[in-house]
Order: sequence, then structure tokens, then C-alpha cells
Amino acid sequence: MTSILSSQSEESDTADIEFASHDRIADLQLRRLQWSLQHAYDNVPHYRKSFDDKGVHPSDLKSLADLALFPFTAKKDLRDNYPFGMFAVPQNQVSRIHASSGTTGRPTVVGYTTGDLNNWADLVARSLRAGGVRPGDKVHVAYGYGLFTGGLGAHYGAERLGCTVIPMSGGMTERQIQLIEDFEPDAIMVTPSYMLTIVDAMINKGIDPSTTSLRTGIFGAEPWTEQMRREIEQQLNMDAVDIYGLSEVMGPGVAQECVETKDGLHIWEDHFYPEIIDPMTGEVLEDGEEGELVFTSLTKEAMPIIRYRTRDLTRLLPGTARTMRRMQKVTGRTDDMIILRGVNLFPTQIEELILTEPALSPQFQCVLDRPGRMDTLTVRVEPRPDVTGDQHTAAMESLQKLIKNRIGVSVTVEIAEPGTLQRSTGKAKRLVDNRPKN
Ligand code: DLL
Repeated sequence: MTSILSSQSEESDTADIEFASHDRIADLQLRRLQWSLQHAYDNVPHYRKSFDDKGVHPSDLKSLADLALFPFTAKKDLRDNYPFGMFAVPQNQVSRIHASSGTTGRPTVVGYTTGDLNNWADLVARSLRAGGVRPGDKVHVAYGYGLFTGGLGAHYGAERLGCTVIPMSGGMTERQIQLIEDFEPDAIMVTPSYMLTIVDAMINKGIDPSTTSLRTGIFGAEPWTEQMRREIEQQLNMDAVDIYGLSEVMGPGVAQECVETKDGLHIWEDHFYPEIIDPMTGEVLEDGEEGELVFTSLTKEAMPIIRYRTRDLTRLLPGTARTMRRMQKVTGRTDDMIILRGVNLFPTQIEELILTEPALSPQFQCVLDRPGRMDTLTVRVEPRPDVTGDQHTAAMESLQKLIKNRIGVSVTVEIAEPGTLQRSTGKAKRLVDNRPKN
């Protein structure tokens, strides 16, 4: 296999590409896309079969728009080829494996060559720089280490940027606080929901979270809203920016929000080609329209991925702080969409409204039940610590009304005892589905 990168050494990963013209990026994408399709077709039986079944060949890609001719890849395809069937290189060229557990069935397995790991570290370093982290900064990594891509992905990227890495991993909240106090990190990489857990625990210990050394938070791995950004920025007196990624496409560092604009995430389009599709029909939508995000890898060696359906809902927007296109903050995953008496809604919409109520905290959960023939949704939310009982009732009624007016469904709001909702140590579980499985 000839690596696309070694054959195009002039395009090595310099900061320059982040500001390249659209034409230069499109030209690079076309060449890399042709390589990636051919590499997948030649080396992965699954792709050879799926392209042949659809009557397309890598040589049919003459323009970027021709990508629409090629078949999609879904999580099921990775599961069906478990564990290593999607790899395009012999196992002795695979330097590392990651996997995501998923809720049911076999894990999704992904692999990386040394070249892939090198690109990944470069892209996370690029992301950190865009997010406001600088060489020499101390970076506390509280994403989980292990098969999850968060910890190790963040780790090598921060090292690549020239930072001092504190590889704390997730969990052990008391220890997190101690190290933040004693090591005085400049930046933290963690899920936003675990950041809230750490903040809660700090407050319980009498520590004011706004007095820590933390200046920047690089938050991702789960959906979070603008309101949550404001909450975290105020509580911690820091810049909070969004990092996006998924193991099937690489891990963290596929897209990153720039600290100077905080206006959505720039997709690193020199390595990943994004499309937005209508999740029902598969039709490619125009930039600006909301739909399901689909990615094709442009440089990955060990596991090229072609038109991968992420199930994440967002829209593509023009570049601002960088020339590459942005994706709006993810609304949610199609899997997390609640359909309540005909109305579609996402936990992020509930989060947004909760955080407009001064008496309510960001600790919440959406519980779906089916007591009779109709589904019901109960929003369980904790109040802020200093709020009294009669304010609870007012906040509860007010949130119920807000949800009815803004989203158009009646839900029950329940004020939970402070500290009783399960705290996240990684990805928050916002949705509890108690409906009988048919
Ligand atoms: O969560 C990779 C990652 C680690 C990203 C650390 C950012 C930081 P997976 O476990 O494969 O990989 O889960 C990928 O998580 O399809 C989205 O649904 C969700 N997700 C990741 N980042 C964001 C984000 C990692 N910034 C899945 N906003 C994705 C919203 C996100 N959702």
C-alpha cells in the first residue's frame, strides 16, 4: 500500500492548510478521495462487494459530488465484519486497536497504522491549538483511557502540541479535584457532563470552581448546548469549546471549535469529507440544511471508512475562523430522538430550557414510560443548592409550560432531591426508556 500522505509530502500537516483556499482544499480532497475509495475497494472485501453490488467503481469518482454514487456504511457493517474484517492492511501493520462497547451486541472495532496514529496526534494537536491550548500548557485529561478513543486520543495530541499531559482518565472524582488543585493544569479535556460532576463535588468540598487554574476546557464525546457552555464558563471562569469525533472515523479531533469564535466546529476537511443526508431517503442535502452527518476518510490506512452514517444530526456551515467548513453543535443522535405523541424531541432541547430557569441545575434525566397506551415523558431535574421549596414548585410549573410552548408536548417535571440523580463520569445517560419492548 502506498500511503496517500507519503506520495503527497508537500501536503504534510502544517498550520497553512487550515487557512488554505477552497479550491486547494477541494483539489486535495478529490485526490485523497480517489485514493481512499481505491484503497478500500482493493483491500476490504466488504467494500469490494458493496461497490460491485451498486455497480460503482472507484474510477467513477471524477468530482467530489460523485461520492453520492457510492454506498453508505453503517455500524451494522462493522459489527457484521467483527472483529477485523474492515481492516485494509495485514494485522502486523496495525499498531493499535480501539473499540466502542455499544449498548448491545458486539463492540465496534477500529484499527490504526503508525501513519494513522501520527495523523491522529497531529489533528488533536491542531484541535487543541484552535481551542486555545498552547505548547507548554499543562493538560489534565479526564476522558477515559482504554478501548475508548477519548483518553489516548487526547493524550497523544496534547503531547504532540508540546503540552505537559496529566493522564488522569475518568472517574475517581476526589482524585481529579486533588490533582486540579495541586498540579494547577491550564486546560482540561473531559465530557461536559463529567465536568459538572467535578464542579458539584468541588462545591460540596467548599472549593470555589471559579478559582482553579483551569483556563480552557475541551469538551466533547456527547451533545451539549450553548446554555451548557455558558453554565460551565461561568462556574469555572474558563473558555469552554467543543471537540467532536467518533471512533469509526478516528476518535476525538475530527472537528473542533475555535476559541476566538465559538461558533460551531471546523471539520478537518483535509482528512475527512463530510456530507449531510436526509436520514430517511439518503439524499445528499445542501450545506445549511439539517440532517445526518456522513463521513468518508481521506487518509486512513488501517481502516478506511466510506460514507459512514454517524446518526448525528447537524448542518454544515461555511468556514469562519478557518477556511474549512463548520458543523453546528450536534443536536443529538437519531437514536436519542424521543418521539412523544408525534412530536420529535431531543434531550438537548430539554437541557436548553432547563438552563433558562435560574432555580434549576443542569443535572437532569428524561424518563420515558408507557403506563397505558400512550407514552409519557417525565423530566427529572435537580434544583440549585441554595433554592427553597416554594421556588421548586414555581420552577417546575414554569419549565412544564416552557416545554409545552416551545416544543409542543406536555411532559411532567419532577424536582429530584439534590444529589440523587446519577452523576456522569463519562458520557451522560440523559434518556431512560422504561417502555415495554415489543
Ligand atoms: O466519543 C470520541 C470523542 C472522545 C470525541 C472525546 C470527543 C471527545 P465514540 O465513543 O465512538 O467516540 O462516540 C462517538 O459521540 O457519533 C456523537 O454521537 C457523540 N459525540 C462525540 N463528540 C461529540 C460532540 C467519541 N462534540 C459519538 N458533540 C458521536 C455531540 C458528540 N456529540
